[in-house]
Amino acid sequence: MAEARTVYVDLLSGNDTTGDGSQATPYLSASLALYTHGPSPPLTILVRKAAGEEYVEITQSALKKAVKDAQGIEKKKKRAAELAARDAEQQAAAKERREKELSEARKVVLTEDPQLPQAVKSKILNLAPLRDQRVRVRGWVHRKREQSKILFIVVRDGTGLLQAVLSGRVAQTYDALTLTLESSVELVGKLVEVPAGQTAPGGHELVVDWWRTLGAAPGGAEAFTNKVNEDSGPEDRANLRHLVMRGETASAVLTLRAHLLTAFRATLIKHQLIEVTPPCLVQTQVEGGATLFKLDYYGQPAFLTQSSQLYLETCLPSIGDVFCIQESFRAENSHTRRHLSEYTHLEGELAFITFDELMDHIETLICESVDILLANPHSAALIKQLNPDFAPPARPFKRLSYVDAIAWLREHGIKRPAEDGSGGEVEHAMGDDIAEAAERRMTDIIGTPVFLHGFPAELKAFYMKRIPGNEKFTESCDLLMPGVGEIVGGSMRMSDEQELIAAYRREGIDPAPYYWYTDQRKYGTCEHGGYGLGVERLLAWLANRFTVRDCSLYPRWPGRATP
Ligand code: 4AD
Repeated sequence: MAEARTVYVDLLSGNDTTGDGSQATPYLSASLALYTHGPSPPLTILVRKAAGEEYVEITQSALKKAVKDAQGIEKKKKRAAELAARDAEQQAAAKERREKELSEARKVVLTEDPQLPQAVKSKILNLAPLRDQRVRVRGWVHRKREQSKILFIVVRDGTGLLQAVLSGRVAQTYDALTLTLESSVELVGKLVEVPAGQTAPGGHELVVDWWRTLGAAPGGAEAFTNKVNEDSGPEDRANLRHLVMRGETASAVLTLRAHLLTAFRATLIKHQLIEVTPPCLVQTQVEGGATLFKLDYYGQPAFLTQSSQLYLETCLPSIGDVFCIQESFRAENSHTRRHLSEYTHLEGELAFITFDELMDHIETLICESVDILLANPHSAALIKQLNPDFAPPARPFKRLSYVDAIAWLREHGIKRPAEDGSGGEVEHAMGDDIAEAAERRMTDIIGTPVFLHGFPAELKAFYMKRIPGNEKFTESCDLLMPGVGEIVGGSMRMSDEQELIAAYRREGIDPAPYYWYTDQRKYGTCEHGGYGLGVERLLAWLANRFTVRDCSLYPRWPGRATP
């Protein structure tokens, strides 16, 4: 028999979740008091209706109602317990069924049939000529679906996608029942053309007769699609770049990048430029001290290179016209969609040329490389996938002098931010730098590649050659592309030793560490010029990417050097 007990109910400030019926922590309802402590006397229920009032014993009518409500609570709890028990039972049954299925599946052991013809090992890209033969393919599970006990999987090996069909015993193994996306697999079977009316990558599918999982990827919370999906934010995607790059778009951009580098090399070699590999660790600046990454080099100051230009210039008398495809580093704190802290820099340098010939060469490099990409079915398909509206640019590219560009900006009402901190805008004037925003609006309006040339000397690097007879301006050019802006920066270089020494002095550069660059003018100088092309920017234009960050394998920008 329950002990006699008094419980407190405060109809205003009690709590049925945290209360225990004591005077300090009363219940909110008499029904819960009854449900918790039993329905019959010796329970005394004291009730308070308002703050400051005394607790009084519950009235008979209130008690009657509370008894009824307590029974309701009892019923609800019972029902909930029954449902929970049924769920647990169902789950246990499902688990048992699954375990039984898996243990049955473990007994299905596939062995490669030695009677069948020898399978030819192949990358997916090379499968077309192997139709109707037995082939062996290894790759990662890109997609999968099950239909009427037939397992359809699309496998990816970096060279392409292949649909594989698993049915009968082949789809009943432990590996088949536990297969997850991104697992690596080995598949063997006959490659057949897909039946009429159906589509599959390459127009064929693999009818699998033997296969196995090589490395299972996790399911559940750790599953690939829980890590990377449409809802992943930019920070997550940056941290998981190694997984993001398995996606169809990222992998297409990276593959196109490889084709682009090959096309550039082919074009440059065709035009008799020789590839060199200058150092990244340097002790001279090229593009101004503000964007240098400084480091301690065995106790001496050194930098990560901003540009290999000065080294390329020294190669001219040795091996002739040269190019390099090398990482360059810029320490500017720029978070725009076209800035990276480390980028791939294609630079070329040519001797005995004129400024017009330099611009012709840059135009040729881009147009002939694009032609190579469009003539190759693999790269053409990638361009089509990423940038369906892409059309090769018409030649010749528009050429607009800096002076005319300032006039054009004024005519089109494109202003620049005022420097007085007012947040207002002012018209462009001679001597102004044409900043990124104005430059982009200009290219977007013009809609075709455009060379801006002849920039004022004070806006440009110390080494640039002055325009003969118009010495305030330089033989310099930027190539602007629609959607991206500046893709190439180039110039003719000072060829006179004394003029160069004066330029060092004007820029406050100590000439001593540049002795080797100055020697270039001392030992048989020549007229020469060159350029630097941002590979990620060109790729952003070609593949219609919003940001250069999507055009680099592992992009670096201020604060980001992981993975
Ligand atoms: O115009 P820039 O600074 O020119 C030079 O470095 C010259 N020394 C090159 C030369 O004449 N050999 O850079 C050349 C190109 C730019 O047009 C741009 O495409 C790219 O390099 N670039 C960048 N790309 C991504 N992120 C950055 N922070 C970049 N800075 C320059």
